[in-house]
Amino acid sequence: MSDISNGVSRESLTQVANLLRCAERIAILTGAGISAESGIPTFRDSLTGLWQQFNAADLATADAYRRDKELVWGWYEWRRMKVLLSEPNPGHVAIARLANERPLCTLITQNVDDLHERAGSQDVLHVHGSLHSPRCFACARPYHFPDGIPEEPEGGRRLKPPVCTHCGGNIRPGVVWFNESLPAAIWQASELAVRTCDVLLSIGTSGLVYPAAGLPSLARRLGKMVIVINTNATEQDRMATHCFRGRVGEVLPALLADGWGRPHVKVE
Ligand code: OAD
Repeated sequence: MSDISNGVSRESLTQVANLLRCAERIAILTGAGISAESGIPTFRDSLTGLWQQFNAADLATADAYRRDKELVWGWYEWRRMKVLLSEPNPGHVAIARLANERPLCTLITQNVDDLHERAGSQDVLHVHGSLHSPRCFACARPYHFPDGIPEEPEGGRRLKPPVCTHCGGNIRPGVVWFNESLPAAIWQASELAVRTCDVLLSIGTSGLVYPAAGLPSLARRLGKMVIVINTNATEQDRMATHCFRGRVGEVLPALLADGWGRPHVKVE
């Protein structure tokens, strides 16, 4: 079954809403596209993507941090400031609603912001870590940010990282950098959720960064439904069973509203 919609066709919305309704276990994988409508830049969108403006090798590796801690810390504090100044959007809210209505729904995100949580989602699996959970680069003990919004005003401006009160080491962002392993327990829980789901929703991700990018193909190999929601064509489209080309903040609320309150209709 393949259904590529330019915008949102009512027929496919109803069909996929029914699939979701009949699914016992749902896994959701989100990427930067879901936070784009909250004003958080994605990584690879032309013009506005972070990796169009900044060099990942200078900012998102442990070697980069060793070379220039202040540059790296300042850049992540600038990103954290942007997140703290933003609000969840209707896409985050729709996912929180779905997860709260369906106890066997697992939310896996590549995003390092906390917009899913602020929209009401719980137990979010942050496979790439979080801007809000820094730790010591030396001893890995967690560091707690003071309340409030950091003052760092511009991307690229240097800022001295805080120091660990236990060992005096430098504090690093709590994100997963390139060439680092994903947090093992979170990754195992993510893979398990995909292996055991009936439907995987892949939302707002380019599907280019592994291992998270491998989750939709894992789901398809196991015969699961894979629903992709993205403004653009992606690598995942060829393996999707349903594909919506549109903004997540419009497609997802429409999908979850459409037919959600009607009696079950089994779609074969
Ligand atoms: P990308 O920037 O690679 O992809 C974002 C996707 O969202 C693109 O496919 C866009 O077409 C889509 N998109 C943008 N706005 C959208 C909207 N309003 N509605 C629906 N889709 C929209 O971001 P990710 O796939 O999340 O990792 O990137 C994966 C990883 O690469 C990130 O977690 C980060 C990055 O390097 C690390 O830093 C380790």
